[in-house]
Amino acid sequence: MLEITQKEVIDALDTASHLIRSNLKDFTYHCQNHSSVNNVYPRCENNQWTCGFWPGEVFLAYVYTQDEVFLKTSHILVDSFLHRIENKVEVDHHDMGFLYSPSCVSVYGATGSLKAKTAAILASDQLLTRFQEKGNFLQAWGKMGEVENYRFIIDCLMNLPLLYWATEETGDETYRTIARKHTATCLSYSFRSDGSTFHTFFMDPNTGNPVRGETCQGYAADSSWARGQAWGVYGLALSYRYTKDPACIMQFEKAANYYLSRLPEDLIPYWDLIFVEGEEPRDSSSASIVACGFLEMAPFLDGEKSAYYTAWAKKMMKSLYDSYRVKDHALSNGLVLHGTYSKKSPFNTCTPEGVDECVSWGDYFFMEALMRLNGTWKSFW
Ligand code: GLY
Repeated sequence: MLEITQKEVIDALDTASHLIRSNLKDFTYHCQNHSSVNNVYPRCENNQWTCGFWPGEVFLAYVYTQDEVFLKTSHILVDSFLHRIENKVEVDHHDMGFLYSPSCVSVYGATGSLKAKTAAILASDQLLTRFQEKGNFLQAWGKMGEVENYRFIIDCLMNLPLLYWATEETGDETYRTIARKHTATCLSYSFRSDGSTFHTFFMDPNTGNPVRGETCQGYAADSSWARGQAWGVYGLALSYRYTKDPACIMQFEKAANYYLSRLPEDLIPYWDLIFVEGEEPRDSSSASIVACGFLEMAPFLDGEKSAYYTAWAKKMMKSLYDSYRVKDHALSNGLVLHGTYSKKSPFNTCTPEGVDECVSWGDYFFMEALMRLNGTWKSFW
């Protein structure tokens, strides 16, 4: 596989910005559903865990084009996110970072918007309410303390940058302390010795001791869900940026190398890394997430390793550029095809949805990876 060229990066960003502009009429006063239906995203209310990704795309389109129409839309979306957190609309879960980093921390960083800052701080406070002292983790889903919900999931590493940001903004160390405690727990239990990952991990509510790994969206408890592995890779890179803990680099390399060892020829993983060939659907979003993780970690690695992971990121992006991205708005209102949200297996517990479709985080991280390769990325994670 060749690496994506700078000319192709610009071409992909031009096309993506054009597609995003075409979608503003549908998704300025509404949110984009988590996944497409026959490659077309329906609208939704601002009540899903995924609603922050479309605003992230709009904001990146603004940074790339400097066209005020995108920034105007970003501010309208910030209003919606402030309303959501002030009114606690579907926020009793851990996904505050996924929601508020791309939608509000982004806009605050660029414009100083007080509404965006207020929304993101309130979201950080909300995330703190998910912390469980017994076991030292942020509980992902469900009623706090219930045995059947007493677990964290690998995805949560991506929610922690919001907490580090909140400490930097407020000077209150509580956010950072909780983020570090959760990271330590995740490092202890989410990663297996070969670098593969458990999607979810249960703790004992009475003792705080580890109980068992299980899957929700992966194929089986002992397989590696492709996107969970991707959240792990990128989450570790971000955790390293904030903590400088060498354990994050060590685990990053193991998780990254496991992921690379399970890719089919075109470098876009099947939805679970247990599959390396055949007719199972892909999850293109995992490739974009991993590319972002590799590019995030590259500056912290020695020259040879840095070049190694950067080259892999560029090869994955080349495959997405050639064979997965949307080139024609008539085909889809998304940016990248062949993502998988949740596929049912005999051994998992998810509700099947968004199989072989565009997924809103797939579009967002594709755009983020392009911005990184274009040299215009300023992090809001
Ligand atoms: N965080 C849930 C997912 O990646 O589907």
